[in-house]
Amino acid sequence: MMRRIPALLATLVIIAAGLSAAGLLGSCQNEQELLKKKYIAEGMVLYRSQCQNCHQIDGTGFEKLIPPLTDTLYLRQNRDRLACIIRYGMDEPIVIHGQLYDQPMIGNQRLTAMEIAEILTYITNAFGNKQEMFTIEEVQRALDRCRQEQTGP
Ligand code: HEC
Repeated sequence: MMRRIPALLATLVIIAAGLSAAGLLGSCQNEQELLKKKYIAEGMVLYRSQCQNCHQIDGTGFEKLIPPLTDTLYLRQNRDRLACIIRYGMDEPIVIHGQLYDQPMIGNQRLTAMEIAEILTYITNAFGNKQEMFTIEEVQRALDRCRQEQTGP
């Protein structure tokens, strides 16, 4: 009987450790979800002041001049480029939803990496899109890379 008590204790400790690990995981996920919601809310405010003029409140763009932000596949396939498009602009013919667009977009150098992460999290979770949030680190990495491409190695 006495010898079984340590084994029982050990089992309890293992169960307790398992439960608290599961709890921790759960709360991490919640924190991530909360952060994403915050980014979407802040990103919406920034979008409305910095992007809406051209891309419109519902992201549908404007006639043949401004492309819409509703092409989920384009946004996903170009995920690594989006931060650079916002900061440095874009000037190349693109096809969105089968429509050709070829007007330049000017860059916005005033936005910080965090603001870009918020805007990108917003646009990739609005207008019918639903994608993972952009972290500041992901945006910063992308910006470092495209700055190198712009200025050369
Ligand atoms: C002055 C008008 C203007 C503003 C302001 C503007 N854009 Fe654009 N945007 C354009 C145009 C024009 C293009 C197409 C560029 C090309 O074809 O080279 C474009 C392209 C894009 C693209 C890639 C194509 C697509 O439709 O998915 C994204 C993403 C984008 N803009 C996001 C933004 C975001 C986010 C902001 C705000 C930070 C913003 N733009 C501000 C005009 C604008």
